[in-house]
Amino acid sequence: MKFKRTHKCGELTKKNAGETVVLSGWVENYRDHGGVEFIDLNDRWGLTQVVFDPEVSGAAHKDAQHLRSQDVISIKGEVRPRPEGMANLNLATGEIEVYVTELEILNKSKTPPFDVNHAENVNQETRLTYRYLDLRNNDLRNNMIFRSKVSHVIRNYFVDNAFVEVETPVLTKATPEGARDYLVPSRVNAGKFYALPQSPQLFKQALMISGFDRYFQIAKCFRDEDLRADRQPEFTQVDVEMSFVDQEDVIDTIEKLFAVLMKEFFEKNLELPLPRMTYDQAMLEYGSDAPDLRFGLKIVELSDVFKDSGFGVFANAVKNGGCVRAINLKGAAQLLSRKDLDDMTPFAKNYRAKGVAWIKMGENGPQSPIVKFFKEDEAKALYEKMNAETGDVLIFVADSESVVRQSLGALRDYFGKKLNLIDEDELNFSWVVDFPMFEKDQDGNPTPTHHPFTAPKPEDAHLLDTDLFAVKSNAYDIVLNGSEIGGGSIRIHDNAMQKKIFSILGIGEEEAKEKFGFLLDALQFGAPPHGGLALGLDRIIMLFLKTESIRDVIAFPKTQKATCLMTDAPGSVDKEQLEELSIDVITVDD
Ligand code: AMO
Ligand code: AMP
Repeated sequence: MKFKRTHKCGELTKKNAGETVVLSGWVENYRDHGGVEFIDLNDRWGLTQVVFDPEVSGAAHKDAQHLRSQDVISIKGEVRPRPEGMANLNLATGEIEVYVTELEILNKSKTPPFDVNHAENVNQETRLTYRYLDLRNNDLRNNMIFRSKVSHVIRNYFVDNAFVEVETPVLTKATPEGARDYLVPSRVNAGKFYALPQSPQLFKQALMISGFDRYFQIAKCFRDEDLRADRQPEFTQVDVEMSFVDQEDVIDTIEKLFAVLMKEFFEKNLELPLPRMTYDQAMLEYGSDAPDLRFGLKIVELSDVFKDSGFGVFANAVKNGGCVRAINLKGAAQLLSRKDLDDMTPFAKNYRAKGVAWIKMGENGPQSPIVKFFKEDEAKALYEKMNAETGDVLIFVADSESVVRQSLGALRDYFGKKLNLIDEDELNFSWVVDFPMFEKDQDGNPTPTHHPFTAPKPEDAHLLDTDLFAVKSNAYDIVLNGSEIGGGSIRIHDNAMQKKIFSILGIGEEEAKEKFGFLLDALQFGAPPHGGLALGLDRIIMLFLKTESIRDVIAFPKTQKATCLMTDAPGSVDKEQLEELSIDVITVDD
């Protein structure tokens, strides 16, 4: 480099007029106005208009003819106020331009595969393949800078509150968080594998047993699971664990963190304590364990009203142990066409519902294919319970509890959007608490709702032998705008209880010893009561920035098929390398 930069591209103002400066950056736009070349010079901090005028420097002007988009250059020049009427007040540097006296081309760029600052319509694959160019895009780069600032504030918050940051291993053993493990073969222990951590769960518990008392880590986690818009195979948790605490202490610590973040990044005072509801209430009223509370449309239980209904579909659902529930789409009668109502059925079929019944509360009474079946008192009780008024639309699903929850939960979200009930600027936090310890897997066997290290509520522990699925735990999730952004629990700190939970989960003594022997051992050496939580950092940033995909807040994300298009990972390896690892690869047809 011939000269060293004196300023960044986002910083020069009228105050610098007359100064000689050096700027470095990438060529953005280049244009010729009557024999004078103008370019926008871009760097992380912004852009500055740079002018090559043959009267100022013939040589620089001549070389500037060859500049193309994304060439990286340094210029030396004089800061001048822009002529009257030419200032761009939307730009920090919009009042000035720099007249170049010397140009150094540091490196030419090949013609980029897309215009880095106008890549909205470029396909994702191309953008991900050239991610290093895509990250030159101001939006994406600003997302990463915002993420860095949030991480910084989070780290400071925990350090200020006497938490110790400890790094835990990435080559480890499986920690069950409900996904498949990524495995890494061991060369020196032929035939054995490390698992990449789905979370640092067992290490943070070990640290509590070691007496660290308060731990946090911004940790990479790895889960081989089906990807969605808010999931990545490797993602980042803000992982937290505390000793001698109860649920309230953990919740309080995390709420205060969000209050700090809201203040710092949105200049908002987050009102604490955050709203809280039980898991049972969330599932009943919102059909989800991560309810979006930016809008109402609560689900109402009507099984009592319809248990002897004249409408067989409803009565039978209740008789068969299911339920009938409904949502009042307040004032939506004018907004929804017959087609909108008919379209609900195929939508709800994705959630295994057999149909969606509806009643439009018209000026001349209720319109619906089903009201004719209702007895008088039944209809009266219904309208009362639903608080139904002229102009409303009631929608119903009758089915098993789980189908009703899922389908009405999805319909609720659908109509929240369709009826424009969501304030997109709102950040709505809440807690869901009192999760059940276990849920049924496909075969009806118990599986942990959170993870197998979560303690039952002490008052429910006696139900472990008699009514397993009624046992609640001190597990809690924090929800932002309908997304689970974190979850945690109070842990088992007693060896006998941990063994019991393993055995309920069908993990035999041998298997428990093999997989979690160290934990069972450690629990016998003075393990303190402890609990914690992990936040999904990527999701939080995504919701803060309102990006559509989690990929927009991760520098080098994976595709839907868990590949990295930039590095072309995962890749093949040499035969020799496989031999060293004692691995034989067989090709399986798809
Ligand atoms: P959990 O499995 O609930 O808890 O994970 C905590 C949070 O991590 C985020 N998250 C993800 N984000 C992006 N991509 C993924 N694939 C992904 N999976 C999870 C979610 C979630 O709320 N060890 C426990 C925590 C504890 O008990 O302390 C755990 O990992 O926002
Ligand atoms: P049918 O008697 O099948 O014509 O259904 C009458 C209305 O009830 C239609 O609007 C169906 O979509 C609706 N429906 C059918 N099955 C269910 C169900 N399980 N829950 C709610 N509505 C249903």
